[in-house]
Amino acid sequence: MGIVIRGGTVLTADLTTRADVYCDGGTIQALGPDVEVPTGTEVIDASGCYVMPGGIDPHTHMQLPFMGTRVVDDFFTGTVAGVTGGTTMIVDFVIPDKGGSLLDAVDTWQERASISATDFGFHVAITGWSEAVSEEMGVVTAERGINSYKFFMAYKNAIMVSDEELVAGFSRCREIGAIAAVHAEHGELVFHLQQEMLRRGITGPEGHPQSRPAEVEGEAAARAISLAGVLGVPLYIVHIGAEQAAQAVTRARLAGQRVFGETLAGFLAVDDSVYYNEDWDFAASHVMSPCFKPKGHPEALWRALQSGNLQTIGTDHCTFTVEQKRMGLEDFTKIPNGCGGIEDRMSIAWELGVNTGRITPNEFVAATSTSAARIFNMHPQKGAIRVGSDADLVVFDPEKSKTISAQSQYQENDFNVFEGTTVKGVAVHSLSRGRHIWADGDVRAERGAGRFVYREPYGPAYAGIDRRLALSTPRKVER
Ligand code: URP
Ligand code: ZN
Ligand code: ZN
Repeated sequence: MGIVIRGGTVLTADLTTRADVYCDGGTIQALGPDVEVPTGTEVIDASGCYVMPGGIDPHTHMQLPFMGTRVVDDFFTGTVAGVTGGTTMIVDFVIPDKGGSLLDAVDTWQERASISATDFGFHVAITGWSEAVSEEMGVVTAERGINSYKFFMAYKNAIMVSDEELVAGFSRCREIGAIAAVHAEHGELVFHLQQEMLRRGITGPEGHPQSRPAEVEGEAAARAISLAGVLGVPLYIVHIGAEQAAQAVTRARLAGQRVFGETLAGFLAVDDSVYYNEDWDFAASHVMSPCFKPKGHPEALWRALQSGNLQTIGTDHCTFTVEQKRMGLEDFTKIPNGCGGIEDRMSIAWELGVNTGRITPNEFVAATSTSAARIFNMHPQKGAIRVGSDADLVVFDPEKSKTISAQSQYQENDFNVFEGTTVKGVAVHSLSRGRHIWADGDVRAERGAGRFVYREPYGPAYAGIDRRLALSTPRKVER
């Protein structure tokens, strides 16, 4: 039986209008004032609320084995946490072991994600380069529905790739119709500064931001942009925390390059003062990479969102407990990197973005849902309220408040970087492909009900101008 959402204001990236939304069979069937529905249809009252496309978190790590331990949220607990905050789809990172098979890793992630409560997609990380990796990228994109690859420019001696590997991988992305994504930090410089901190006896969490000054991000973002520009591949820079990186994206976009930037709800709200807290557990719980940046950077990220130069707000949801963080008690470089956020992303972005007037409600929808759907080639199946689109919907009450706390959260870790923040604007109902799985405090999500979202390769127009030829047409001089 279908569901109708009545009496709300439909809010999309480009439209605000009073309309009912009727869904059945997993998709939106009808839209408009007073839509007629079959008898027995479940009715959700959305008076006083917005009805939005379900949030898409383009950056998560569920159940990831990382830095000698494992992320505590799995695909079920993590997606349930998301749903309670209005996020109805995630794009998670498949991270093969160095030298490992991409296809095997995709199979492993599909198995892990088989318990997901909501729909999900994948990016694949390229952690090393070989002929086999190059070939497998072709298969992953042509046959496995994944058109985005992440290259880690940091995590030396682990999953970092060299410039040589970046060049080879970016070129391959262009050939197969994929978008390249980078973790933009200068890994060599970070490693050098980490050793320097330890030599000076700085072993606590404060060593983390001190070995990752903002330039570390700015340099890597600019380098990745230059390489992508010459090689003619679209580029998505994940988890931008530094003004310098946002500026590099802005410059490239002004020059006409197809570059996109993602920031995080956490980076828009928190600064690096957290690392200097005297409570080791508190400081260590904020260790993630890139790190939270000094005051001034969050505002610069907001400006980049306002001007449209950053497009998406993700979370990099990667949860560890305080106990797991204690693996780095003697040495900050051993603190597992990662924080949570999927549950609070939408409310934090609304509170700090819309309630302050920094962004409009429509821009909010773009940044938390529609832009990710467009950039990753799944719009209008996702990120839209149109007849035929998946019925991933959120009823969002702009007048309802809550105070965020680890005590009451759904995500599995025992810490919350937004602890104590009161937000006005919360998801009261969430639908995942027409299933009403969050109903005003009641979680009705089912293990394994989520489906993989297959994403086609991009057409040649998306890759843009082949600047290899534009910049240097091969020219042989006959002598
Ligand atoms: O600290 C983080 N971000 N952990 C997850 C891995 C990554 O770099 O995205
Ligand atoms: Zn990263
Ligand atoms: Zn990440």
